[in-house]
Amino acid sequence: MSRLTIWDATRTEKLLVTEDAARIADELRAIGVRFERWPRADLPADADAEAILAAYRPHLDAFLAATGAGTADVIKLTPDHPMKDAMRAKFLSEHTHTEDEVRFFHSGTGNFVLHVEGKVFDAHCGPGDLISVPANSKHWFDAGTEPNFAVVRVFTDTTGWTPHYTGTDMAERFPAATA
Ligand SMILES: [Fe+2]
Repeated sequence: MSRLTIWDATRTEKLLVTEDAARIADELRAIGVRFERWPRADLPADADAEAILAAYRPHLDAFLAATGAGTADVIKLTPDHPMKDAMRAKFLSEHTHTEDEVRFFHSGTGNFVLHVEGKVFDAHCGPGDLISVPANSKHWFDAGTEPNFAVVRVFTDTTGWTPHYTGTDMAERFPAATA
């Protein structure tokens, strides 16, 4: 289930918690973040990247055409991955990128947390959710200590994924509501 939690940036007040997809999209649109839901494809648990991309091809092609993004791939992460802790740590502190960070969740969950204009937007995404974090926006990502997801990544240039850390403790002060 998708969920958006909005805090004020001093963490004295929780401004909103909603699981309503339309409300989530509205709130995120107001800060320049695209959020939409695609009908989830019914695939076997062991579906490979090719099958996942094929299943979402009509939505993907429309998205690529609308945004001008170049291409898409699939990344899967499971709790038995030997590098899961290092992969978690890389994106767990507040950072920016030079490219939009676009993710569609085929399965599993993960949180994109944005720090915008004195507020923190914690978007818990699940199966069927697409989120696009705009280039240069301050954010972090967490899928918890037991990551388990298959997501489609949309991108133009993978060098645009390099995190530029802001050096703040925002992510430590606002642990993502991953559960
Ligand atoms: Fe990021």
